[in-house]
Amino acid sequence: MDGNGRWANARGLTRVEGHRAGDAALVDVVAGAIDLGLEWVSLYAFSTENWKRPPAEVRFLMGYSRSVLRARRALFHSWGVRVVWSGEQRRLWPSVVRELRETEVMTANNPGLTLNLCVNYGGRSEIADAARALAREAAIGRIDPEAITEGDLAARLRGGARVEGECTGPRPRPAVPDVDLFLRVSGEQRISNFLLWQSAYAELVFVPELWPDVDRLVLWRAVEEYARRTRRFGGAVDTPHPAE
Ligand code: FPP
Repeated sequence: MDGNGRWANARGLTRVEGHRAGDAALVDVVAGAIDLGLEWVSLYAFSTENWKRPPAEVRFLMGYSRSVLRARRALFHSWGVRVVWSGEQRRLWPSVVRELRETEVMTANNPGLTLNLCVNYGGRSEIADAARALAREAAIGRIDPEAITEGDLAARLRGGARVEGECTGPRPRPAVPDVDLFLRVSGEQRISNFLLWQSAYAELVFVPELWPDVDRLVLWRAVEEYARRTRRFGGAVDTPHPAE
């Protein structure tokens, strides 16, 4: 959800006004994803690097995330959305963790879109956590280091850096699938530590709109662009010769 600060500054507003303006975009994108029949949407709300921001902005973002969750979860619930949280508990405000957990529990049995809120999330730290979990298991002889597969690491990524054995809802937390479409808004053309492992074969789509200007149409156009791509996953597909 990038570009809130630039959107605000271009209007002579403070960065926090930009974050506030992003709320409507969030709701419209979720509605547009449901209309399209998407099964998963992951939203990058706060990265493990965002702690470097000025303390006042971090404080605002913590409080604001909490109020967005409180204000929007009933709506998402009524739409059949299942909300899950990916990210680290460390440093997150306990009140934000509480709201995330309550939202997960409230929506756990919903059959519709899964909305993966990435709050205090970082792709590298997620991979490092999974590596640490594998190393621990190898150290006690539960797994053979030589036999570790990509699947073993992926299995330990799922659900982010959650405390082992922790249960957040009536249904087990679903595994985060590989990313099909990676949509970066705001004109930046980088991945910024988001879902690094899961995006190995993602189709990247970059659009100029700043997050508060993003709506379902931006998402739909990105999905059209995605549908025009040929996904080969490292394989080869011949293009027919024009004369044939
Ligand atoms: C990036 O814009 C935006 C953020 C770091 C915060 C986005 C989070 C919210 C709006 C809260 C929603 C929370 C939940 C849990 C749903 P930026 O400040 O990097 O913009 P810039 O690149 O223009 O400076």
